[in-house]
Parts: sequence; C-alpha cells; structure tokens
Amino acid sequence: MSDVFRAKLLDGRVALVTGGGSGIGAGIAKRLAEHGATVGLLGRTLEKLEGVAAEIRAGGGRAECFAADVRDYAAVEGAVGALVAAHGRLDILICSAAGNFLAPAASLSAGGFKAVIDIDLLGTFNACRAAFEPLAKQSGCIVSITATQAWVPTPLQCHAGAAKAAIAKLTQDLALEWGPSGVRVNAVAPGPIADTEGMKRLAPPDAAAREKLEKGLPVGRFGTVDEIADVTLFLVSDAATFVTGTTLVVDGGQSLLGAAHFMQLLGG
Ligand code: NAP
Ligand code: COA
Repeated sequence: MSDVFRAKLLDGRVALVTGGGSGIGAGIAKRLAEHGATVGLLGRTLEKLEGVAAEIRAGGGRAECFAADVRDYAAVEGAVGALVAAHGRLDILICSAAGNFLAPAASLSAGGFKAVIDIDLLGTFNACRAAFEPLAKQSGCIVSITATQAWVPTPLQCHAGAAKAAIAKLTQDLALEWGPSGVRVNAVAPGPIADTEGMKRLAPPDAAAREKLEKGLPVGRFGTVDEIADVTLFLVSDAATFVTGTTLVVDGGQSLLGAAHFMQLLGG
C-alpha cells in the first residue's frame, strides 16, 4: 500500500491492466486494487495472471483474469466486454503489455521488428479502442507504459524505440480526439526498473557493467516497480483531472544523459 496517497482513492472504480501478470503491470494492478479498484488482468499466460490475482485477493482486493493476446482485437474486446458485463463499468485502462529483446538492426528480421511493433503499438491501440466506449461513459482514463527509448537513440533497440515513440504520439492524438468525450490519455516512461523482465533482457549481464550503469544514473540507482505504480496512481486519480496527452518521464534522470551513455557502456 502506498502511504503517499489516501486509502481507497479509487473506491468503486474498475480497471483493466494489460501485461498485468508480471513486473510493472502487476505492480500497477496491485496498487490500483490496494486503493479500492476492481482490477482485470490481461496477458497471454493464465497462470501468471492467477498468481497476481491471488495476491490481490489475499490483500482484500478484487481481481479477474483474462487470457488474451493484445495483438488479437477480438480477444481484447471480449475481455473488456466481460469486465464491463461483470462490474457495470470501466474507469481505467493501463497498457503495460510489451515484448522486447536486444537486437542489432542489421540482423534483426522483419518478423522480429513486426512482433515488437504488433505487441507494443498495435496492442496498445487495440486496448484503447476496445475500451473507449465504456471509458467515455465514466469520464475514464488511459495510461500507457512507454520507455525512454522513444526519444533517446538507443543501440540494439530500434524496434522497441520505434514502437514506444509511436505510442507517445498515439497518446497525444487520442488525448486530442477523446478529450471532448471526457477520456484522458497519458503515458509513463520508466527508466531502468530493478527486478523486472525488461531489465533482465536489456541490462548488461555482468555485475560490473550493471553497477556502472546504475551508479552513472543522475540519482545513482535503478527505480522500483512501486515508484512506477505510484506515478501511475497519481495519473489515474482525481489529482490529475487536467492532465492529458502527456508522457511523464520517471527515469531517475537517465534520459538526460542521452545516447552517449549507452554507447560508452557498449564500449566497455
Ligand atoms: P514483463 O514483466 O515481461 O511485462 C510484460 C507483460 O506483458 C508480461 O506479463 C507479458 O505476459 C505481457 N505480454 C507480452 N506480450 C503480450 C501479448 N502479446 N499479449 C498480452 N500480454 C502480453 O516486463 P516489464 O519489464 O515489467 O515491462 C512492463 C512494461 O514496462 C513494458 O511496457 C515495458 O516496455 C515497460 N518498461 C519497462 C522497463 C523496465 O526497466 N523493466 C523500462 C521502461 C519501460 P505474457 O507473456 O504472459 O503475455
Ligand atoms: N533477437 C532477435 N529476434 C528475435 C528474438 C531475439 N532475442 N526473439 C524473437 N525474435 C524474433 C523471432 O526470430 C521472430 O522473427 P521471424 O518471424 O523473422 O522468425 C519474431 O521475433 C517473433 O518471434 P516469436 O517467438 O514468434 O514471438 P512471440 O510473439 O511468441 O513473442 C517476443 C514475442 C519475441 C517479444 C517474446 O520475447 C515475448 O513474448 N516477450 C514478452 C515479455 C517481454 O519481452 N518482456 C520485456 C518487456 S520490456
């Protein structure tokens, strides 16, 4: 439970979290549930979703699981429909589902590039589009999880960088079009977050290089899932009702260092 915000901040609200079965998505789902929201967890692996749902229920919260691939519009629409049918409303959509791996652009296959674009960008559009009508009924909101690769040139990340940059633009366009319907659309761009699948895949595997990366950050440490969950809670709360179309950077200052930081790391 975050002690920064008042308890039951989201009482009576219903949220759907794509990628809610692990990492940052799971952390956000737990935070929303702790503050009173009923949470739908969407991902491809039911066992992972059930594990997070069990934790939420053990803490007194309410959670439901939807095994679906965000690339499959009908499946996402079905999950939104089932959540709304069960609880009568949808107030919050969090788009955290993503796929990533390190790959040099010169050898990345077209299929590899497409897989990441489809999961991240198309998957985010699918969830936003499927959720729009019920969200509009509640003056609801959307938060998509992007990344600093969206604007900081990053080696071995052309696929994820392009996808996340496009999500940032989609966030602005949807905010513009859906503002009159009462739907706010924002994004959060985390920096390196400790103990996540993303870091397992992207951070240097050897301890010395990892430490160099961590100590080289302006704040001198990696972020935590809780820190991303708290910022997301702020964005979906009534404290942020005039905030839309923005990407909130939550990276300990990493993006201030620019591309040279990564190039130095690669150079050893
Ligand atoms: P993660 O634990 O792997 O979370 C991604 C989730 O998305 C998984 O639970 C995965 O579950 C789900 N997913 C993947 N493909 C899917 C698909 N096609 N359909 C539905 N669900 C799918 O990784 P994470 O590190 O916490 O990353 C979460 C988000 O934060 C991502 O958007 C990532 O880009 C962003 N981010 C992370 C960091 C970091 O340091 N970790 C930094 C910046 C941004 P299944 O495989 O079971 O479907
Ligand atoms: N390096 C280069 N290419 C890779 C790759 C890697 N490490 N892993 C997969 N690919 C390519 C495959 O070769 C394939 O390309 P092809 O069609 O040209 O052969 C393409 O990506 C799709 O692979 P596939 O395994 O069928 O994809 P998928 O849809 O089952 O899984 C991934 C998507 C690849 C992103 C997978 O890593 C995943 O499910 N990730 C989710 C969790 C995650 O990435 N979390 C971190 C979030 S920051």
